[in-house]
Amino acid sequence: MNVTITARTTVATGVVALTLKSADDLPPWRPGAHVDVTLPNGLTRQYSLCGDPADQEWRIAVLLEPSSRGGSSWIHSEALEGTTLTVSEPRNLFDLVAAERYVFVAGGVGITPILPMIAEAERSSIPWTLWYGGRSRSTMAFTDDLEALGDRVHLVPGDTGGRIPVAEVLGTPEAGTAVYCCGPAPMVEAVEDACRAWEPGALHVERFVADTPRDGDAFEVHCAVSGVDVRVEEGVSVLDALLEAGVEADYSCTQGFCGTCETRVVEGVPDHRDDYLDHSAPVDTMMICVSRSRCGRLVLDL
Ligand code: FES
Repeated sequence: MNVTITARTTVATGVVALTLKSADDLPPWRPGAHVDVTLPNGLTRQYSLCGDPADQEWRIAVLLEPSSRGGSSWIHSEALEGTTLTVSEPRNLFDLVAAERYVFVAGGVGITPILPMIAEAERSSIPWTLWYGGRSRSTMAFTDDLEALGDRVHLVPGDTGGRIPVAEVLGTPEAGTAVYCCGPAPMVEAVEDACRAWEPGALHVERFVADTPRDGDAFEVHCAVSGVDVRVEEGVSVLDALLEAGVEADYSCTQGFCGTCETRVVEGVPDHRDDYLDHSAPVDTMMICVSRSRCGRLVLDL
């Protein structure tokens, strides 16, 4: 589905919000939903919808990643008003469940899926509190709107307020309360630790999908089907090295979350860096867009 950017606003240092409209009716969505945005450069990125589900327009907010590989940097430099983008139907892996009250914990641009959740809680007159952290106030988006909601909102800029006192905020489990956390991995892990004593299912988390670092030593890949050998240098993904060598491989997100590039490993030990596979048990496949190797040579079923 194609949408057009009808407004673009800088909502914090390094964060732009885009309003998206379609000539056709946009599909419905619920708080916590995201859409895949396919950019003209072929990359696909996921962004939470952060506007009002009742509106016939969507809003996303995009943080400029310092190590962007063409996703957020393209949006920041090229996605101007009037630009057309291709988007997926909304999908929701972070749905707002019914609860007697909510505790929301957000870090940085992780505030985006939380905004419609707060609006929904307000509409339903369900009590809530928000703890929202960021590097500094200027990097935290939508702070004025949030502060207007009163003392249920706790803003914690890192440079003046330190860190969200997660253990204190979540130290005592409360029956009927649902906790929603979206932010960088260390914040999510701290919240998970603090909620160990809570009822199963009380905590709902969503981690950032950031551009995955490709650091790590170079290694060799042998393609068992085509017979092609490639060297994967540091800073280059297996996928890019294979495509460069003319090997056909499917891919979409290039960030390790969609599963399109899943490839069977015939020999060798991958260094898994994806967010798609369940790594609690051994797997014989790898996501070649982000994962690397723990040994000098991998043999892949390609
Ligand atoms: Fe999406 Fe690799 S292309 S997981």
